[in-house]
Amino acid sequence: MGDFLLVTGGAGYIGSHTVVNLLERGSQVIVLDNLCNSNDAVFDRIDSITHSQAVFVKGDIRDRDCLAKIFSTYPIDSVIHFAGLKAVGESSQIPLDYYQNNVYGTLVLCEAMAAAGVKKLIFSSSATVYGEDAPVPYEETMPRGKTSNPYGTSKAMVEQILTDLCASDPEWSVALLRYFNPIGAHPSGLIGEDPKGIPNNLMPFISQVAVGKRKELSIFGNDYPTSDGTCERDYLHVMDLADGHVSALSALDEKGAHIYNLGTGKGLSVLEMVESFKRVTGVDVPYSFADRREGDLPAFWADASKAEKELDWSATRTLDEMMEDTWRWQSNNPNGYDG
Ligand code: NAD
Ligand code: WQD
Repeated sequence: MGDFLLVTGGAGYIGSHTVVNLLERGSQVIVLDNLCNSNDAVFDRIDSITHSQAVFVKGDIRDRDCLAKIFSTYPIDSVIHFAGLKAVGESSQIPLDYYQNNVYGTLVLCEAMAAAGVKKLIFSSSATVYGEDAPVPYEETMPRGKTSNPYGTSKAMVEQILTDLCASDPEWSVALLRYFNPIGAHPSGLIGEDPKGIPNNLMPFISQVAVGKRKELSIFGNDYPTSDGTCERDYLHVMDLADGHVSALSALDEKGAHIYNLGTGKGLSVLEMVESFKRVTGVDVPYSFADRREGDLPAFWADASKAEKELDWSATRTLDEMMEDTWRWQSNNPNGYDG
């Protein structure tokens, strides 16, 4: 298609998988990433998969000069904005960093876009904006709820800012994509999730136990009011999530702010995830039950019908593919991009 896209945070987990899809559909991709939570080795891997290259600019979304230079150098049509900090627990320790990166960073980006006359944006939001009290399944028509940490609040704030921006200027079109729980990796095993330090999220923890980097998984709580007492989440394959961004690009032809849930529409428990991983890979994952983790909700999943109806998108990869692809990435790259 030959359109020019700026992808902030394109070296990260979801961004890198999306860049693969964008290059494969023929887009020209400029990645802006400060590598605070990623590794530039990802770009050689992306080249190997796609046989084409993204332009990589190492820089920060808060750097106005850097953004101005990008917009004056390349005829950017749209921006996909992944860049930000995402560790829920850490956000309560260093909230100012989270608001600086996620909220102020988005303001600087939007100002640079407006100055360049680029008014099409896809934003990485999160199911967390539904808050603590929303009934399941989550529907886009529900109001944003009470968030329980600065990370979630930063996502809700940015959603509001972008909604106000669209109301103020009818030239803007924005897709607010609310991701549920992305897992898995590209089926090549060349790119995947590479968390720094001890993983916060379930799937990287399971795969690091399986590969021998960690002794056992702690399952946070087995007394929730769910089928087996462990929490339920809507896990979707990261390649389906990447496809969702390509589908959402078409929605940017319509002006205004549009919200879409990107999930499968189905909840799975922590124990179901552990058992599936073992069944699919044949590798044991020792675990024990631990106390509930503060802030965890018992169960939530998406109503994914709006994206299906309006974007012609639905999650198609199976749970087995999520497990196989996670394991191919982890076992081929026990230390992530460091080898
Ligand atoms: P990630 O940390 O792997 O990717 C984010 C990328 O942004 C990293 O490469 C990081 O180096 C870069 N970055 C951070 N701050 C930056 C800045 N100020 N300037 C330039 N680059 C910067 O995270 P991810 O899992 O790929 O998530 C991508 C986006 O999706 C984030 O906004 C995240 O909050 C959101 N999200 C993620 C999940 C999830 O479960 N992974 C769920 C919902 C929403
Ligand atoms: C999943 C389940 C844990 C680790 C987080 C953010 C959310 C979104 C996605 C960005 C829970 C349990 C986990 C472990 C465990 N991110 N678990 N042992 O908490 O649903 O969502 O990531 O927007 O905002 O909150 O995902 O993968 O951390 O946890 O038992 O070592 O696995 O209790 O039930 P979560 P997760």
